[in-house]
Amino acid sequence: MKKLFIKTYGCQMNVYDSARMADLLAPLGYAPADAPDAADMVILNTCHIREKASDKVYSELGKLKVLKEEKAEAGGKMLIAVAGCVAQAEGAEIIKRQGAVDIVVGPQSYHRLPELIARINRDKGHALDTDFPVEEKFDTLPEEIGTNGPTAFLTVQEGCDKFCTFCVVPYTRGAEYSRPVAQIEREARKLAEKGVREITLLGQNVNAFNGEGPDGEAWSLARLVRKLAAIEGLDRIRYTTSHPRDMSDDLIEAHRDIEALMPYLHLPVQSGSDRILDGMNRQHTRDDYLRLVERIRAARPDIALSSDFIVGFPGETDKDFADTMRLVREVGYASHFSFKYSPRPGTPASTQKQIAEDVKAARLEELQTLLFAQQRAFNEACEGMTMNVLFEKPGRQAAQAIGRSPFLQPVHADDAAGLIGKIVPVTIEKVFPNSLSARLLHPSRVAEAVS
Ligand code: SAH
Ligand code: SF4
Ligand code: F3S
Repeated sequence: MKKLFIKTYGCQMNVYDSARMADLLAPLGYAPADAPDAADMVILNTCHIREKASDKVYSELGKLKVLKEEKAEAGGKMLIAVAGCVAQAEGAEIIKRQGAVDIVVGPQSYHRLPELIARINRDKGHALDTDFPVEEKFDTLPEEIGTNGPTAFLTVQEGCDKFCTFCVVPYTRGAEYSRPVAQIEREARKLAEKGVREITLLGQNVNAFNGEGPDGEAWSLARLVRKLAAIEGLDRIRYTTSHPRDMSDDLIEAHRDIEALMPYLHLPVQSGSDRILDGMNRQHTRDDYLRLVERIRAARPDIALSSDFIVGFPGETDKDFADTMRLVREVGYASHFSFKYSPRPGTPASTQKQIAEDVKAARLEELQTLLFAQQRAFNEACEGMTMNVLFEKPGRQAAQAIGRSPFLQPVHADDAAGLIGKIVPVTIEKVFPNSLSARLLHPSRVAEAVS
């Protein structure tokens, strides 16, 4: 067997892609390894979303070059591939900057990796593929799919046509594409057969999903969720990331009606100021978002909401930032991701006058203080509640297991080691900064308690 080491940066879609690259290379004799040392092939699956994310790639490549040389001295050979969004954005530039790289392959062409490897082995030199044959990719990827525990990601939609002025994704992932329903259903059934109980449907704009259904019609995400919820063994469905503009009535109703659809929604707003939302080209107002949240909560009152925020977007005044703080107070989030604006090459906002770094840092701190307080309040409100947890993996202590609540909170419980892969009712006992601890509801009747 040959050793394959894949390092993944960025979003969940990259996690999915890395797993698929491993599936693709398994028939060629590559087995996953936990470290790059002496690997026969190393893939960096990269992210271009913010400057820091991209920078990491080149420092990592510097270290890999040394390992590659060591392997060559020992008479072996290490292939280095750069995949993902930096590969797409920078292409041949990567090979120019770091000659140790053999292959550069974009997020929509990685299904061609076996060909690219064969080409390198035959012709020497470097191989580059940054085309966008997304449909071909999904048709070509192996049906055999590896799993890692009882939860899995499943990409249903890729790409973005929204062109927010700060974002590289439309350039790195290409135009919006939705996979056909039948193909997704096949993959979901495979996952369920392998013991997966929870799937998270992925897309850069997942709620813009409009894949072709078996009836030849374009299906909405809600319709897809309903179909997948009927698969035996698939008890939990989540989806991410949604754009507020594509949050349709039928999807909101699905949160009310479909038991398997978990009460958690990541709905990025980015800013609470209409002026900034307009500058970002988000195509909705603050009020649109607040009304949307009202409708979602009317359908599913206990839903946990989460969002992404950017502070220090060009032109953001103290008043704009105060509007974001006000929106956060009005909504009340269960979790969040927040970032300082990072100018990205080729995006419209990057050429505008930039906000000073110290202003960005102060705003981020203020926003995060509020968001973490809200997260804590959300978690504390769960104390004493009974909820189902899907246990995913062993915990740090003996006999402990860790899983997720319906609201995506990490939960750990003692005496639960035998419950991995099961959905079990627990009572939340204690709230920690990053997790909840729970007691099994019926320790003596665990077998019956499993739902
Ligand atoms: N498709 C998703 C987001 C994808 S990128 C959406 O529409 O919301 C994930 C998050 O990274 C974004 O929501 C945004 O908050 C952040 N982000 C994207 N570009 C950024 C940039 N240039 N600087 C800082 N944060 C950025
Ligand atoms: Fe980026 Fe906007 Fe598309 Fe999200 S919707 S991926 S933030 S361009
Ligand atoms: Fe990063 Fe590309 Fe995902 S830029 S966030 S890896 S879509």
